[in-house]
Amino acid sequence: MGDVPQSDPDLLIELDDVSLRRSGNTLVGPLTWKVELDERWVVLGPNGAGKTSMLRIAAAQEHPSSGTAYVLGEQLGKVDVSELRPRIGLSSSSLANRVPGEELVSDLVVSAGYAVLGRWRERYDDMDTERAVEMLESIGAEHLADRTYGTLSEGERKRVLIARALMTDPELLLLDEPAAGLDLGSREDLVARLTDLAADPDAPATVLVTHHVEEIPPGFTHALLLKEGQAVAQGLVDDVITSENLSAAFDQSITLDRVDGRFFARRTRTPGRHRA
Ligand SMILES: Nc1ncnc2c1ncn2[C@@H]1O[C@H](COP(=O)(O)OP(=O)(O)OP(=O)(O)O)[C@@H](O)[C@H]1O
Ligand SMILES: [Mg+2]
Repeated sequence: MGDVPQSDPDLLIELDDVSLRRSGNTLVGPLTWKVELDERWVVLGPNGAGKTSMLRIAAAQEHPSSGTAYVLGEQLGKVDVSELRPRIGLSSSSLANRVPGEELVSDLVVSAGYAVLGRWRERYDDMDTERAVEMLESIGAEHLADRTYGTLSEGERKRVLIARALMTDPELLLLDEPAAGLDLGSREDLVARLTDLAADPDAPATVLVTHHVEEIPPGFTHALLLKEGQAVAQGLVDDVITSENLSAAFDQSITLDRVDGRFFARRTRTPGRHRA
């Protein structure tokens, strides 16, 4: 009576003392982290810090080895993940690598609603097809609809996968390094589109994993800095993205600048140590 734990409906991700272990290694944790409705998070940290592993928990692709994880109000381990996953939009390089080269872009986007890779139904509703085109437009990739995935450039693939992640009108959007491999113009384009998305009250709560503070879209509200599976700092972007926290996360002195709402980071120059 009243003892059943109720998750807060405004909490989209709730990791409580979560750890993820594989082959005797701790990939994530212990980590406590909460994402609320309307929040836009950026996750940063060195290679191997556990960003992708943590995102896989948030995407209901992995169960924690210990601790409790709620995603969209459902406790992992106690929910049918096949019902949960379509409510989450995920774009990641592991997904990118699994798409068959001959897959048509429009089919790849439209099939997101069926949580499958590859077009398995003979026909999709006209409405689905229309929405797929809209999603491609929203990310500046409508001209790619009739191409096959194998013929796309790295940046074009990233855009198509984001369109796919948005296709199901997800309650939660998880983007793992969406700007990796993009040229400067395409990166700036993507940052601009993510800035628009951050400002759109109808857009889903978003978690963006990136290696570069330059890619933090203005309007993103929160940041999590991970190191060896644990949080170095988490909270409001302005409190977390500081030279002190970045220096701690990357084990070197980092100088941070902010121009026009964007961050720029570099190693602090030590007098006398640079080469002529
Ligand atoms: N199945 C596994 N068994 C053992 N170790 C694993 C397994 N999967 C991942 N790891 C290790 O867990 C650590 C975290 O990996 P993860 O991919 O989450 O890091 P990341 O922060 O996303 O790194 P990157 O910035 O390089 O993408 C890495 O050291 C990785 O080698
Ligand atoms: Mg990763």
